[in-house]
Amino acid sequence: MTINYSEKIPNNVDLANDRTLQRALEHWQPHFLQWWHEMGPTDFEKADVYLRTAISVDAQGWAHYGAVHMPDYRWGIFLADAVAERKIGFGDAMGQPVWQQVPGEYRSTLRRLIVTQGDTEPASVEQQRMLGHACPSLYDLRNLFQVNVEEGRHLWAMVYLLHAYFGRDGREEAEELLARHSGDPDKPRILSTFNEPMRDWLSFYCFTYFTDRDGKYQLKSFAESAFDPLSRTCRFMLTEEAHHMFVGETGIGRVIKRSLEVMKELGSDDPARIRAHGAIDLPTVQRYLTFWCSSSLDLFGSEISSNSAASFASGMKGRPDEEQYADHVLRSAVFPMALPGGKTEGVPMLNALNEVMRESYLKDCDIGVKRWNRLIERAGHDFRITLPSSRFRRSIGPWAGVPVDPQGRQISREEYERRLPEWIPSETDRAFIQSLMKRVAEPGKMAAWIAPPDRGINNLPVDYEYVKMH
Ligand SMILES: [Fe+2]
Ligand SMILES: [Fe+2]
Repeated sequence: MTINYSEKIPNNVDLANDRTLQRALEHWQPHFLQWWHEMGPTDFEKADVYLRTAISVDAQGWAHYGAVHMPDYRWGIFLADAVAERKIGFGDAMGQPVWQQVPGEYRSTLRRLIVTQGDTEPASVEQQRMLGHACPSLYDLRNLFQVNVEEGRHLWAMVYLLHAYFGRDGREEAEELLARHSGDPDKPRILSTFNEPMRDWLSFYCFTYFTDRDGKYQLKSFAESAFDPLSRTCRFMLTEEAHHMFVGETGIGRVIKRSLEVMKELGSDDPARIRAHGAIDLPTVQRYLTFWCSSSLDLFGSEISSNSAASFASGMKGRPDEEQYADHVLRSAVFPMALPGGKTEGVPMLNALNEVMRESYLKDCDIGVKRWNRLIERAGHDFRITLPSSRFRRSIGPWAGVPVDPQGRQISREEYERRLPEWIPSETDRAFIQSLMKRVAEPGKMAAWIAPPDRGINNLPVDYEYVKMH
């Protein structure tokens, strides 16, 4: 199915033949644009940004690249093609046809799941809105804006579902998605990670690596959903999401590469000397990674959850890559859950699915860590990046508030408080990183704390003028 760009709202859902829905979305559209104007990237509305826009939902060659003013980006509604005769792949209704409408009994739960996912999309744009002023290069600035416009499109994806399938409640929720704001004391975003302020690019790379990857896992579990429109929406969102994690992985990799270059030049791994040279020492990189990884682990919810059991059993939300498992019903499976105090308890697998997801998420996070460690190893250093245990610094679930070190060992509260600054960024770290945040906007130039990327965007050279300021 090709995308119709001649319409006010680009789409591949035949919007022109559903006048009521079209009118409702055309009513929401100016509210979205006003939100973008007020809460999107500051001061770059007139810049020409080299962006990709979806032109079809095929895996191959779906994107068109060209210079765009961000407010003119063609945000629209794109669903992956329907799978003929698709059947429910898990839960108690496994094998039955998927749903093209929302079953009444699941309406409020599905709406909540869609609203929670939808809320994260504009939240991240809001968190990142000041970063453009401190970009380390035009290449990075362009990548930030690409991520931002696509998160805006992900909001459209969820708003389409709310409008098309949830009637008046859905339309009200769509308005609320523009009314909550990241970090707003009165009307904050739903999930706490999306209210963390983001003032520096190291945090941005960590966010796109860890927090966008949580998004990937949520989308993967929705891609399995029995509610077919949700599944198709999320399948296409996943193809966009891959770029966001690429930005995170290569961004952190380039910070490490630069750090290693400076270590070689100085013949020293002394953090103070590396910092004096304008680069970021590896222990500081590690503390930022630990902070954002642990903050993102909470997004999967409590280790033991009756909500996750109900969402799975009913068919609303599967496990990422459901086909990799043998048992898709899980009525008799048990999960050995490690709990504080050294106990391990057998928990019904259905109630442990948040933890199953968290574990597979951490495995996925480890892939980039291995690549970064190879860089460090090849440069001849013993330092190794590690991920924190999923028990570290949790605020949800049985490990919430339990003093645990990054390796997952329970320790005394006194030791925890004392050593926390070794594990996550201190005020001094943050002040140092902030001191590096100066805009570099000459084509091909990079800030002193980051190495250039291996290649440019869409086969263009690294020194291409990806953002033209006016
Ligand atoms: Fe997204
Ligand atoms: Fe994303």
